[in-house]
Amino acid sequence: MAERPIGMFDSGFGGLTVARALIDLLPGEDLVYLGDTARYPYGPRPLDEVAGFAHQIAEVLVDRWDVKLLVVACNTAAAAALESLRDRFDVPVVGVIEPGARALVQATETGRVAVIGTVGTIDSGAYQRAVESAGGSDLVALACPGFVEFVERGEFDSEQVHVLARRLLQPAVDAKVDTMLLGCTHYPYLARTIGDVMGRDVVLVSSADETAFEVRRLMLDSGLVRDRATGGRATFVTTGDVSWFEELGRQLLGPELERAERIHWS
Ligand code: DGL
Repeated sequence: MAERPIGMFDSGFGGLTVARALIDLLPGEDLVYLGDTARYPYGPRPLDEVAGFAHQIAEVLVDRWDVKLLVVACNTAAAAALESLRDRFDVPVVGVIEPGARALVQATETGRVAVIGTVGTIDSGAYQRAVESAGGSDLVALACPGFVEFVERGEFDSEQVHVLARRLLQPAVDAKVDTMLLGCTHYPYLARTIGDVMGRDVVLVSSADETAFEVRRLMLDSGLVRDRATGGRATFVTTGDVSWFEELGRQLLGPELERAERIHWS
């Protein structure tokens, strides 16, 4: 079982933040990453539609690649389908929401915190519930429509992103939060812009990094870690344009993303 790859997916490039962290933390593991770029963004879609996509992708990862564990490297998909994926598949399913919420509550000193995410994630209430059960209460939850589109265009630090970030993040600035969770796996790519707007004193917590730590912990606890320290292979799959995925993906993830393959839904 331990020899099998880790499977992970996102609507597009955002989950590469989780993939980067996993490759660094568990360099002996094989992983298969599926980016559903043909159907991104998930954020504005109804949650039941996103849940349908998540199940379709998880089925492919389990049937075709025989993955030993599934990482839902997308907050919107985790908000829509984490529980139903856990019910349906035999392999462990790790989402991005609980690890991020726990880290947020641990990191704050004043107790005033914010989470930012897609409209789907924030409207689902999943973070509001997860932060509360992690012991936090003074939470500003903000949807940031438009952020994902900037990332998918490879635009991380332009004047337009700054203008949008200043407008969307103002309520968190006004609330004087001391910690902000990036509750969308695309957002770490905008960390510089978000950090400029929030100010240097505000700690940014990445749900992507926290999830990678959670995956490692779960794999160690359940004996799923491969018996070798290096040499893992990563396979990248996209539902959309392959050359665009390879080009922007390599820029975002690094040299491990040499090639991607295309998957067509039958
Ligand atoms: N990266 C995804 C997330 O964490 C979703 C982006 C989108 O497709 O809207 O929510």
